Amino acid sequence: MDISLEGKVALVTGAGPNIGSGIALALARYGAKVACNDIDVDAAKTAAERIERNGGTAISVPGDVTDEEQVIGYVQAVVERFGQIDILVNNAALLGGKGVLDESAEFFGRAVEVAALGNFLNTKHVGRHMAENGIRGSIVAISSSNGWSGSAGVIAYAFHKGGVNNFVRAAAMDLAPYGIRVNSFTPTAPTPDNPDLIAERGAGGVLERPHRHGIGGESGTESWRRPARWTGQRPPMVPMGTTGTPTDIGHCVAWLCSDYARLITGIDLVVDGGARAKNFAYFPAAAADTAGPLPLIPLDITGELDQEVS
Ligand SMILES: NC(=O)c1ccc[n+]([C@@H]2O[C@H](COP(=O)([O-])OP(=O)(O)OC[C@H]3O[C@@H](n4cnc5c(N)ncnc54)[C@H](O)[C@@H]3O)[C@@H](O)[C@H]2O)c1
Repeated sequence: MDISLEGKVALVTGAGPNIGSGIALALARYGAKVACNDIDVDAAKTAAERIERNGGTAISVPGDVTDEEQVIGYVQAVVERFGQIDILVNNAALLGGKGVLDESAEFFGRAVEVAALGNFLNTKHVGRHMAENGIRGSIVAISSSNGWSGSAGVIAYAFHKGGVNNFVRAAAMDLAPYGIRVNSFTPTAPTPDNPDLIAERGAGGVLERPHRHGIGGESGTESWRRPARWTGQRPPMVPMGTTGTPTDIGHCVAWLCSDYARLITGIDLVVDGGARAKNFAYFPAAAADTAGPLPLIPLDITGELDQEVS
């Protein structure tokens, strides 16, 4: 039995080069036609081009997920081009930020707005399209481990990802009568694997954020400041040795959007090598002492295609 999204159409918001592009590519590799949204016109276009390069069908639909007119506009554009929308992935977000003592009201407000209105408006208008047309679709909201437990230095992010988690459960109840499923998916600090990003920033390269200093990063230098976290050598923290890549995420989101997952709604799917399940007092064995996961099944076959051509 192969998972297939053949005949389905997906819309992925915030399809920047890391996780959004990885999910969009995965949905396409499993057979869906994919519309890539981002507020950054180039990012949306590049995600669509990556899909085309890998043999899929894609369009870019740039727009701001917080602007209702723009959302209605790009949802209509996808329907006009591909006829329907069966899958929505609410991925757009503002990452980074600061801790509660230092965050600005401006960044906090905008980060919450992108998460809140992004999830709400896209779920509302794609949900209406699905309900009106009898499409028993799948909606996935991308959460974060920061939405489930506390991290220092990301107070806005922690707030809105926590909101995403309960938005999903409530929207799942609203849309269950229509056969539309709503779930969250929790990535946990995946290692970027988009070849474009690796070429630009090096393997495992740290991505620039609009507003860095997350997860216990820099704060002020006043004498009363206290460090937000342990900065010495840490034991390994992830039971399986790795939190994975956007490709790992993509495979599982594709499955969650497939008809095999027809009764899964209102849940959170987490792919993190067991990181979230770990008790606070438990430190996993060293990587050398664990078998680790099975080899990764790649989704970006650009390199292989290049080799075939040359
Ligand atoms: N990178 C991680 O370590 C990590 C971990 C857990 C969860 N996540 C979540 O995964 C998702 C993607 O993360 P990423 O690492 O690819 O981040 P990213 O910053 O590379 O991508 C987010 C994209 O959202 C877009 N965006 C921001 N505001 C928008 C708006 N108003 N309208 C449309 N697009 C908008 C940005 O332009 C960007 O391309 C996010 O929801 C993030 O919170 C990321």
